[in-house]
Amino acid sequence: MNREDFPMLNKDIIYFDNGATTLKPKCVIDSISDYYSNYSANAHRGDYKISQKVDSMYEGVREKIRNFINAKETSEIVFTNGCTDGINRVVFGYFKYKLKAGDEVLITESEHASNILPWFILEKSIGIKVKYIPLDSNYEVTVDNLSKVVNDNTKVISLAYVTNVIGDIRPIRDICEYAHKNNILVLVDGAQSIGHIKMDMMVDDIDFLCASAHKMYGPTGVGFLYGKYDLLNDMIPLEYGGGMNAMFLEDGYIELREVPVRFEAGTQNIAGIIGMGNAIDYINKIGLKNIIKYEHELKEYLVSELSKLDNIIIYNKDTIGNTVAFNIKDVFSQDTAMYLDKYNICVRAGNHCAKILNNVFNVNNTCRISLAFYNTKEEIDKLITVLKNSNNIYKEIL
Ligand code: ALA
Repeated sequence: MNREDFPMLNKDIIYFDNGATTLKPKCVIDSISDYYSNYSANAHRGDYKISQKVDSMYEGVREKIRNFINAKETSEIVFTNGCTDGINRVVFGYFKYKLKAGDEVLITESEHASNILPWFILEKSIGIKVKYIPLDSNYEVTVDNLSKVVNDNTKVISLAYVTNVIGDIRPIRDICEYAHKNNILVLVDGAQSIGHIKMDMMVDDIDFLCASAHKMYGPTGVGFLYGKYDLLNDMIPLEYGGGMNAMFLEDGYIELREVPVRFEAGTQNIAGIIGMGNAIDYINKIGLKNIIKYEHELKEYLVSELSKLDNIIIYNKDTIGNTVAFNIKDVFSQDTAMYLDKYNICVRAGNHCAKILNNVFNVNNTCRISLAFYNTKEEIDKLITVLKNSNNIYKEIL
């Protein structure tokens, strides 16, 4: 779908590493160049026309995000540097001040490092306990297995909506319902789900959601944090400077501005934010429903074709996200990635920043194919032919 929109797809590559970052359509690239070429002023600081244009574009993106994830208020959207930044802001700006020694945070062993390491740091600094929700035989989280590890000390559940290796889609709506009945807050890592599934804040009832623009056809180095207004209003900014204070005095008195601008100290990544808004417009133009349907069909085709090859082990055949983790039998995953690269096929190999997943997965390194709507069945057919002919892989890559 819409391949002609992506300059990178003119380069004779088969790009199957969308979980790492998606390609950018020309309209997103152009919107960034347009900002720098035609109205390159700061936001919220000038009284001249181009500066006012920046203000309205900047705040317009907040509204586009609100609409995209169906949040209640525009003020619930904070611009960040990306998903990792968002998670760190919530852990160290909110939970650090709300949790106490002995409180428990539930994650899983299939989370990305960015949703594990901040909690480990809090464990060391204030004595909270990080516990793991047991995964079922298909590596999935269910409310049933979650409820087995919840007790009176459980205060937070922090999960990816879609994981980056297994690609399972979590039942976040049910998890939030269960959590809220038990006075537990839910933080969602939306890095792999944004632009691939519908996330609806008013229906899902998520407390905090973090996402990156570059995984949804937008630029790198920018993203957003959604938080319910009362929670954000109770969150401590991690950065202080211009734009986020209402006043300060020589004796050290500081009055912060309102939510969300109190979390946006200093000049923001304006070009990136405008590009992110354009990426949302672009997804809306294609239609998220169409994307979801197409990507689902493509994933099913990929799994069915890969399953026909005797030399391939697939580790997550039965999950429904866009990701397939596999290895060629008896071949190190990085060697497979190098071999595929000889045919201009881009996949990621290794542990994919999910370094404790091997506890449940029983394999340390895999090759990962992560699909986007511009991938095609023809590309999958080429991949299958290359994998089928991989008997002499070591001769080819040495
Ligand atoms: N988190 C990104 C990935 O899974 C980088 O590849």
